[in-house]
Amino acid sequence: MEVGTLQIERISAELRTRRIGRRIEYLNSTTSTNDEAWQRIEEDTADGLVILAEYQTAGRGRLGRVWHSPRGASLLCSVALIDRLESRSDKVASRSCRVGELTGGEIGLLAAVAARDAIVCCSDVIPIIKWPNDLLVAGRKLGGVLIESRVRRDSSRACVLGIGINCLQQTGHLPPELADSATSLELESDRVVDRTALVIALLAELDGWLTSDQRRLNGHIRAAWLARCEPMGQRIRLQHGGRVYSGSVVDIDPDAALIVRLDEGGVRAFSAAHTTIIRGTSTASG
Ligand code: BTN
Repeated sequence: MEVGTLQIERISAELRTRRIGRRIEYLNSTTSTNDEAWQRIEEDTADGLVILAEYQTAGRGRLGRVWHSPRGASLLCSVALIDRLESRSDKVASRSCRVGELTGGEIGLLAAVAARDAIVCCSDVIPIIKWPNDLLVAGRKLGGVLIESRVRRDSSRACVLGIGINCLQQTGHLPPELADSATSLELESDRVVDRTALVIALLAELDGWLTSDQRRLNGHIRAAWLARCEPMGQRIRLQHGGRVYSGSVVDIDPDAALIVRLDEGGVRAFSAAHTTIIRGTSTASG
């Protein structure tokens, strides 16, 4: 098991990225690395800035959930992305979550693919992606992605991509309510868990995606996500708008909404921002 804190000097020395991690801030403790990234975004142009922390006092997950992690146990990372308006084809100011050519949904898919591939690169664990961007091992959650977006004072749009990966947690470190549904690399892998190597691999993967020609990227992100996700066609129950729906998963749309063939008839898209998968209803869900 890795002992000690993240090796920031090693990250800076080994990182060969063009956009992501040109500036890295490392914190012993913070409320949330996403909060820190938003502060920097308000202060200046922080595109590509990476915030890493050992501990969060108010870590947050999707759909208003709390993100728990003991000090020094996880990879806790936020990346600031600022829209380069000149790179957009429509050049129309829109309030929708969008950075460059990518929608918030696509950025979430891309982040899940990057995190999954970084884990594969640094361990003997092969997580599966559960819609929209959870990382699972044998049905237990190993990591997750939180995408937040805002319009800045100058009307440019910014997005913070928050990634949490459970690394060094032992069974007793998981809160009782998560003991059956969460896991860590330490619990799943026979190899020594090297969080520093994982950070380097993650930032390199993200940089690879975010420096490619974004106009050509959309289809590639979706294809990469589909190649790494739970199988299509499985049975599912969803909570959406105060109702429960059941059906079979058909696809995801270009904006990462889940397309479901409903038992009650018809095919419907469910957006990640307003939908929860009810646990235990899909063959491989967490
Ligand atoms: C989820 O699965 O619900 C998303 C979890 C995202 C957690 C990460 S940890 C780093 C960053 N800071 C936060 O407060 N949240 C994200």
